[in-house]
Amino acid sequence: MPPFRTYAAALAAAAAATSAPGAAAHAQPVLPPRTAPRPLDPRTEARVDSLLRRLTLEEKVGEMTQLTIQAVARVHGTATVAQQLDSAKLEDALVRYHVGSLLNVWDVALTPAQWQEVTSTVQRVARRKRVAVPVLYGIDAVHGHQYMRGGTIFPHNIALAATFDSAVVRQAAAITAYETRASGMAWNFSPVLDVGRQPLWPRFYETFGEDVHVVATLGRAAIEATQADPRPVVRTLLGTAVPPPARVGGQVFVAATGKHFLGYSAPLSGKDRTTAWIPERELREIFVPPFRAAIDAGVRTIMANSGDVNGVPVHASHAILTDLLRTELGFTGVTVSDWADIEKLHSVHRVAPTRNDAVRLAVMAGVDMSMVPYDLSFYDDLLALVHEGAVPESRVDEAVGRILRLKYELGLFDGDPGPNAAMLARANAPAFQAVSRRAAEEAVTLLKNDRAMLPLAKTARVLVVGPGATSLTAQYGGWSYTWQGTDTALYPKYVKTLLDAVRDRVGPSRVTYVPGASFDSTRDVAAAVAAARDVDVVIVALGEQAEAESPGNIDDLTLPAAQLQLAQAMEATGKPVVLALFEARPRIIRPAVDAARAIVTGYETGPFGGEAVAGVLFGDVNPSGRLPFTYPRYPGAVEHYDRNESANSTAGDSTTGYYPEFDFGHGLSYTTFAYGPVRLDRREATARDTVAVAVDVRNTGARAGQEVVQLYTRQLYASVAPPTRRLRGFQRIALAPGEQRTVTFRLAVQDLAFIGLQNRPVVEPGDVDVFVRGVAPQRLTVR
Ligand code: BGC
Repeated sequence: MPPFRTYAAALAAAAAATSAPGAAAHAQPVLPPRTAPRPLDPRTEARVDSLLRRLTLEEKVGEMTQLTIQAVARVHGTATVAQQLDSAKLEDALVRYHVGSLLNVWDVALTPAQWQEVTSTVQRVARRKRVAVPVLYGIDAVHGHQYMRGGTIFPHNIALAATFDSAVVRQAAAITAYETRASGMAWNFSPVLDVGRQPLWPRFYETFGEDVHVVATLGRAAIEATQADPRPVVRTLLGTAVPPPARVGGQVFVAATGKHFLGYSAPLSGKDRTTAWIPERELREIFVPPFRAAIDAGVRTIMANSGDVNGVPVHASHAILTDLLRTELGFTGVTVSDWADIEKLHSVHRVAPTRNDAVRLAVMAGVDMSMVPYDLSFYDDLLALVHEGAVPESRVDEAVGRILRLKYELGLFDGDPGPNAAMLARANAPAFQAVSRRAAEEAVTLLKNDRAMLPLAKTARVLVVGPGATSLTAQYGGWSYTWQGTDTALYPKYVKTLLDAVRDRVGPSRVTYVPGASFDSTRDVAAAVAAARDVDVVIVALGEQAEAESPGNIDDLTLPAAQLQLAQAMEATGKPVVLALFEARPRIIRPAVDAARAIVTGYETGPFGGEAVAGVLFGDVNPSGRLPFTYPRYPGAVEHYDRNESANSTAGDSTTGYYPEFDFGHGLSYTTFAYGPVRLDRREATARDTVAVAVDVRNTGARAGQEVVQLYTRQLYASVAPPTRRLRGFQRIALAPGEQRTVTFRLAVQDLAFIGLQNRPVVEPGDVDVFVRGVAPQRLTVR
C-alpha cells in the first residue's frame, strides 16, 4: 500500500478517535498481554490471616517500620560501627517497638563472619518478641553482594546491558541471591528498572540503559533469577551438589525489588531526586513497561521514587502507587518507601505541613513499609494516626498482610531465617568470578577502530597515561564495598587495574606509565608527552571516579577538561592514541574523538574490567559489547535512538537533531559478519498475530566472534508521531570463522502497540518496516 494511503487512514483513525471515543474503526485499543495477577497460595493466606489476628496494632505498625542497621549499632565517638550491634538498642527496636525490617550498611563492607554475627544476632533477638515474627533484612546487592568483603562483584547494570545477554544477567543475579541469602538476608533492593533517559543523572550506570525493551527484558531476567531457587545455577557452575539445604529459602529465595516506581530516572535538571516532568504518554510508553514486565515476572517488592513527577512527590501519589501500580498493573506485593522519603514529604517536598501528615499521605497513597531509617518517628506517628481515625486499621492490615505473606514466602518462619555457613563458604568461588569475568568481556565495547588500529601487537612499546589506568574505583563504580565505592582499602588485592593487565600482556619492560592527570586536574602532561617519544602507541585511560546518588551530581556532561587536555596533548604527539573509558554515564569526549585511532569503553565493569579492556586492546578478547544508550556528541545534544522523525537532521548536520557521537546498539568486532535478507513469514498481520522474522548471519572474518543481532521496527505513519525505530528483540550469538546461523525472532504484533491519543495502548493499522540492524527493512502491513 502506498504510504500516503496509510497516512490518510491513520489520520482518519486519529480524527475518529479524538472526536468520538470508541467510534474509531481503525485504532484498536489493545492492552499488551499480561498474565493474570499472581495467584495467592491459600495455605500461606490462611497463615497470614491467623497471624494478623494475633498481632496487636503496635506490633503491626512495627512490621511496617524499617530501620537502618546504624540505628541499632554501637557508636564510637561520632561514628557508628555497623558490625557491632548495640544489644540494648536492638532489643528496644525489635522487642519494644516490634520493628519488622532492617536494612543495609552504607559505610563499611562486612566480612562473611561479621555478617553471620549481625544477621544471626538480629534473628535471635527477634525470637524474643511476644509473637516471634522474623526480621526481614534488606540490602543493596546491586552488582553482586557488594557490602560483603569476599562477595562476588559483577559489572554494573549499564555494562550488563551492553552484553545484551540475558543468560549472563540471570547467572549474576542467581549468584548474588545465593551469597545474599547465605549471609542472612532475604531481600535485595535490586534491580533498578528506571530507564536511562537522562545521561547527567548520577545513577545512570545503575540502569540497563535507554531502551525500554532492554530494561524490561534484563530486569525480568534479574528478578526471576533472584527469586528462584539458585541451586540449579550454582550446581552447574560449581559442578557439584551444593547447599543450600532445604531449610533455607521458601517459594521465594530472595525477594527482588523493582525500583524506583516511577519516573525517577528522568529528572529535568539531571540531579538526583529532583523534579521530573513526564507527560502521561511518555510515562506509559517508556517508564511503565519494565515495571509491568517485573510484575508479570512476580516481583515481590517495589520501591517508590524519591522525587516528584509533574510536581507530585511519588510517595504521596495515590494515582501512581495505588491506581496505577495496584489497580492497573496488578501488583500484589510490598511497596517500600525509599530512604527517609516519607519524612521528606514534609521537610523537602512541602506537601505535608507536619511529619504526621506526611505519614498519613504516604500510607494512604500506598506505601506499606517506611524506610524511616534512623528513628521510630514513623512508628509513633502512624500509631497516633490510627488512634485518631485518620488512617483506618484496615489499611494497616492490608500493608502488614503483604509483609507477612512475603516473610512466609521467603521461608523465614519455616527454616533458619539467618545466615548459612556452608553456603557462605562458597562465596566468590572461582566459578562465580568466571561469570563476572565473562560479563565484563562481553560488555567492553569497541566504539572506534580507525584503520584497524586494534588489536595491538603484544610486542608493541606502550605508554599508559590517564586516571582510569590505575583506578579500581572507576572500574567498579559506586555501591562497591561502601555506598560511594571510594574506599580503596576495602578492595581485594587480587584485582587488576588496566595498567596491571597491560603489563601482564606485553611485559613490564615494554610499558611506560606516567600518571598525567587526576580525574579533574592536570598533572605532568609534559612528562607524558616526553615519554611518548619512545613508544609505538599511547593508551589514554579516562573516566569518572566512583559515585552514588546525589554526590555524583554534575553540572556538565563533558568529561573534566584536564582529562581531555591530556588526551589531546597525547594525540598532538603524532603517536597513535587509543582511548579507554571507565564511565558511569556517557561523558562528552568530542575534543578527543577525531584524532583518536581507537576508542574502547569499559563502563563500570567491576573486578575484571581492567583485564577485559586490556584483553580487547591486545586481541585476547574479540569485542562484542554494544552501546545500550546513545552516546551524545555535545552536551546540549542529548537524544535517544527511538526519537521521532522531527528530531532527525540531515546526515552530518551537527547543528540540529540526531547526530550522536556513537549510536545506540553500536559496537565493533575484530571479525566481520554478513547478513542475508530479513525474511518475514507473512506480509500482512492482525493485532492478534505473531510474525516470525528470520535472518542468516555469517562470520565472514578469520576470527571467532560474537554478534548481537538486533531487531527493530518502524511504523511508517501513526496518529502519534512514530519513532524512527524501536528495538523489539535481540540475540547474542557466537560464530566460528565461516559459520552461519539463522536467527529467528517471534514478533507479536501486540508488542507494536504504542500509547495513542487517548493515552492507552493501541495497535494502529498501517505499514511497518521490520529490520535487523545493518539490513534493509521488509514491509509488514498491519490490518
Ligand atoms: C536509594 C535506594 C536504595 C536505598 C537503600 C536510597 O538512597 O535511592 O536505591 O535501595 O537508599 O540503601
